[in-house]
Amino acid sequence: MRLRALAWHGILITIQDCRLGGLNMMKTFTGLTALVLAGAVATTTLAQDDAAIKAAVDARQAHMSLFAFNIGLLGGMAKGEIDYDADAASAAAGNLAALARVDQSRYWPQGSSTLDLDAEQTAALPDIWDEGSDIGAKAMALVESTTAMEAAAGNGLDALRGAIGAVGSSCGDCHKAYRQPNN
Ligand code: HEC
Repeated sequence: MRLRALAWHGILITIQDCRLGGLNMMKTFTGLTALVLAGAVATTTLAQDDAAIKAAVDARQAHMSLFAFNIGLLGGMAKGEIDYDADAASAAAGNLAALARVDQSRYWPQGSSTLDLDAEQTAALPDIWDEGSDIGAKAMALVESTTAMEAAAGNGLDALRGAIGAVGSSCGDCHKAYRQPNN
């Protein structure tokens, strides 16, 4: 549990290392040709960084969509818009609990916040990467509430209804702190 929270925190890594590699190479060359060459290396590194960041943003947003799809079914049942079905509810709750436990540390590279990318690319606020960020604790809260939901969902509509509020709050608390509201 603790490790996972740390993983969310330890997100930063690798990209700077690639740039440093490029800089060291620069020192071994002299003259204009070398500078041009070094420029080319830096550009390639940047393009690779961009692709890596885009892939990570795509992955975390896709993961969020899977959360939304599964909680959508449970929420629909809780509201009485979808007929309660114990097997379907259990399956969706099991998916949510499993998804919440997936290691997401590499979804959040530094340089992928709303400060770094265009508004339509990401809603991830820079506070995620701040020193005092508690995004790991917020991710853990989702693990806890979805674990409780997994135990409850197959035990009747009342049990499902009793568990859904905490799951919704775990999503909402993190969004309130770390996701740019769309307006
Ligand atoms: C620990 C924090 C955290 C938790 C918990 C969390 N989210 Fe998110 N969610 C985010 C952040 C940050 C973004 C913005 C990601 C981005 O745009 O790069 C986001 C984005 C989303 C999106 C938009 C995805 C897209 O395509 O742009 C949806 C939908 C979503 N979350 C649903 C959920 C649901 C449902 C839950 C709970 C079951 C949940 N989230 C739990 C942090 C969280």
